[in-house]
Amino acid sequence: MKAHFGMIGLGTMGRNFLLNIAEHGISGVGYDLDAGKRELLLKEGAGMPVDVGSDLADFIAKLESPRNIMLLVPAGPIVDSVIADLVPHLEKDDLIIDGGNSHFTDTDRRIAELDSKGVGFMGIGVSGGEEGARHGASIMPGGRRDFYDRVETTLQAVSAKVNNEPCVAYMGSGPAGHFVKMVHNGIEYGMMQLLAETYDFMQRVLRMANTELHRTFTDWNGGELNSFLVEITSEVLRKTDPETGNPLVAMILDTAGQKGTGKWTSQAAMDHGVPIPTIDSAVSMRQISAQKAVRTKVAAKYFGMSTSADQSHSRTSVGELEDALFCAFILTYAQGMSLLQRASTESNYGLDLAEIARIWRGGCIIRSKLLESIRKAYSTRSVTRKPDPRQNIRRPPQFTRQLAPQSRRRLQRERHPGRVFLVRPRLFRRLPHRTFTGKSHPGATRLFRGSHISADR
Ligand code: 6PG
Repeated sequence: MKAHFGMIGLGTMGRNFLLNIAEHGISGVGYDLDAGKRELLLKEGAGMPVDVGSDLADFIAKLESPRNIMLLVPAGPIVDSVIADLVPHLEKDDLIIDGGNSHFTDTDRRIAELDSKGVGFMGIGVSGGEEGARHGASIMPGGRRDFYDRVETTLQAVSAKVNNEPCVAYMGSGPAGHFVKMVHNGIEYGMMQLLAETYDFMQRVLRMANTELHRTFTDWNGGELNSFLVEITSEVLRKTDPETGNPLVAMILDTAGQKGTGKWTSQAAMDHGVPIPTIDSAVSMRQISAQKAVRTKVAAKYFGMSTSADQSHSRTSVGELEDALFCAFILTYAQGMSLLQRASTESNYGLDLAEIARIWRGGCIIRSKLLESIRKAYSTRSVTRKPDPRQNIRRPPQFTRQLAPQSRRRLQRERHPGRVFLVRPRLFRRLPHRTFTGKSHPGATRLFRGSHISADR
């Protein structure tokens, strides 16, 4: 019997995605130039309806028609080269699905090129890394609706589930799936930067030890900040380096690379004229982090390599930081959602922001408890039917309500009247706030980036 679903690229993502499919009783066949990867698939998939093609022709012959073939290969020219090799073997109505982090403009181009050859093409965002691919990812498919309908059952089977609902939904036309995944990654960059800065403040200003940091992040993960990224931050802070016995985090070089999706989000936001300052800053900070040699030189020349921080804010409470981080997370999601909304209007993607928030609640890197509130906020309004550029998740009452009681409690506990922490521009004007004193506040300022405007201004 022929296989229902094909996978080209049997690296970690492709192999695990195909195993996930097979585990759900859907037959799959895989292909990779590397024979070792093909063997690994057969070994790990023993007892499951999974097979491999010995070459491209054999792979094609093992698939039922019309064929559904997913590519999980590195984004960029490799995708074009795999498509070029594949097309001569394909027939009308066969479908190629690119599941990598491709740039949405490449997806747009590939849809048009393959359409002229009678071959279907979809760009789908897949989030969740190896674990998600194997046990349930958040999946963002875009392209022609009838193509989506063809693979919906398979994608639903392998997606993560939240309250039994699959974390997959049709995103919209053209490259909508890859556009949404790109913005997902932009939000991911923003949240990671906020976590890094919060950690830095706690460690260098509040001088908290790693055990205390681990406990605090674990505690936060049990509350409103509940999310995958907070959870893994707490886990990482618990680890020690087996060789030296030092905290693992102290042994990791403070430089980070990037594959490009965060930068693309900033570029797209500039093109659409949508401000996403938290995400922009996160991209810049990664770029600065990568310039380790320059940073070291400048630090030695001007600061004598001192790593001490301004201690004037050492009485900041952990609760205040929790509030700041929570507020900054909301703003980061809000920036991503604003970009999605504007792009959807201008490029006619037909995005449904409530559905996007829904499928991001499970499987993906930015999954969080907060996304359920965001989903609810968007479900109450017909965002796509009646686009209004002023609409923003910062406006619905759900958010002001969510922030208000918590912030009031915190405000009562404040030990420093006059200090500006949770800065609430007009967005949060219903909340009580402190008066801007003109004092600089590097910690909160860095957390809020461009949003740290005093409510008084
Ligand atoms: C995911 C991730 C994954 C990866 C990004 C970002 O959703 O599973 O977003 O795709 O983390 O490619 O990678 P960089 O941080 O290296 O740019």
